[in-house]
Amino acid sequence: MNNVVIIGLGYVGLPLAAAASAAGFSVTGLDRSARVVEGLSAGRSHIDDLGDEDVKHMLENGFVATNDETVLETADTVVICVPTPLTLDGSPDLGAVRSASEAAASRLQRGALVVLESTTFPGTTEDVLLPMFAGRGDVGVDFYLAFSPERVDPGNEQFTITNTPKVVGGLTPACSGKAEEFYSRFIDTVVVAKGAREAETAKLLENTYRHINIALVNEMARVCHEMDIDVWDVIRCASTKPFGFQAFYPGPGVGGHCIPIDPNYLSYAVKSRLGYPLRFVELAQEINSTMPSYVFRRVQDLLNDQGKAVRGSRVLLVGVTYKPNIADQRESPAVDVYAHMTAAGAEVVYFDPMVDDWAPARVSVPKHRDIGDVTDVDAVVVLQHHEGVDLSAMLASGATILDTRGKIDGPSVVRL
Ligand SMILES: NC(=O)c1ccc[n+]([C@@H]2O[C@H](COP(=O)([O-])OP(=O)(O)OC[C@H]3O[C@@H](n4cnc5c(N)ncnc54)[C@H](O)[C@@H]3O)[C@@H](O)[C@H]2O)c1
Repeated sequence: MNNVVIIGLGYVGLPLAAAASAAGFSVTGLDRSARVVEGLSAGRSHIDDLGDEDVKHMLENGFVATNDETVLETADTVVICVPTPLTLDGSPDLGAVRSASEAAASRLQRGALVVLESTTFPGTTEDVLLPMFAGRGDVGVDFYLAFSPERVDPGNEQFTITNTPKVVGGLTPACSGKAEEFYSRFIDTVVVAKGAREAETAKLLENTYRHINIALVNEMARVCHEMDIDVWDVIRCASTKPFGFQAFYPGPGVGGHCIPIDPNYLSYAVKSRLGYPLRFVELAQEINSTMPSYVFRRVQDLLNDQGKAVRGSRVLLVGVTYKPNIADQRESPAVDVYAHMTAAGAEVVYFDPMVDDWAPARVSVPKHRDIGDVTDVDAVVVLQHHEGVDLSAMLASGATILDTRGKIDGPSVVRL
């Protein structure tokens, strides 16, 4: 168990490749993007959690990035980390998982382990992947198939791949055993699920839990505003309870690859197999996806209080990534806030030290020089707060600020 091929070298696959490489495995990364392969081969990282130095170190340890599928023929372990987006109608798009699995199945050597790490609906490993390996003999004997959810949290320095417990679930006990053996070589704690379905569902439960709790606190923020209650103080007080409460905070909506997307995989599975909706997920979806329009209305109200219309006003959006301290803009709610603002005729500028060029509608938005002087804008909306950004520097200008993250206070600041 030494020759590892990781298919898909993004936010999930690349840190995994780095950890396996550091543990002494011979690691090859297979990615269909020429840009990714060329960049990594030249020692350049394209993700937040790894620097160029880390990639160079991997290359020194023998890591190779390629788009040549024949590398699968000598792999004894294949890990699939390709994207699982949604189709235009909101259903799961397993296109990348299918093509990566087909490539693995067609070239697999006897006795190899294949692990799917892409987030997906329960039953994917058994119902979608297994049939592709039909000509390869018996699962659990001639080859091994398992699912292991990825828990990477981009930007989190405390919990990394090696000290975050890893769940694995195989199609047979022998498959689970092989997967456990593989991950135990570089991950401190490996948790063996009853089977692949339980491992697949555990991931969806984790993300659905976050999605629903964020929706709950977003709805609380809306009603507290209507009732003139400070939701931030409510959360501060509630979170002093040492048991039975976990604090979640309101915001302009949810973003990233996981929270806005994964619960759809669960509701799709429930609806298609059981015939009824997963109501919690659908309600959370409705609340979280309408937060950008809610933020827009709050800005509209603030401008109105100054006797201004949105049309013709200059609005500064501060922080456009989906979470703090990273450059990842995938599914960021800032895009929808921007769309509402521009549709109503506002002139939008942005400030974000993590993002050099922001083009939410394929057109670059002008970047504000700094936030020390915001006298040239009619309203500021804080959508994200990166460490090191001194939001209080804006207070001196007296500009009207809507803070959706509860990070600053002052006479000209209104919180969500
Ligand atoms: N990003 C996260 O924080 C995170 C966390 C947990 C789970 N996940 C899940 O992990 C999976 C991967 O997500 P990601 O964020 O790493 O995606 P990503 O977009 O960052 O990277 C995916 C990579 O796969 C490559 N790829 C796509 N199809 C391919 C194919 N058929 N063959 C070879 N390479 C292919 C792409 O070129 C890209 O480099 C998804 O299912 C996601 O839901 C992501």
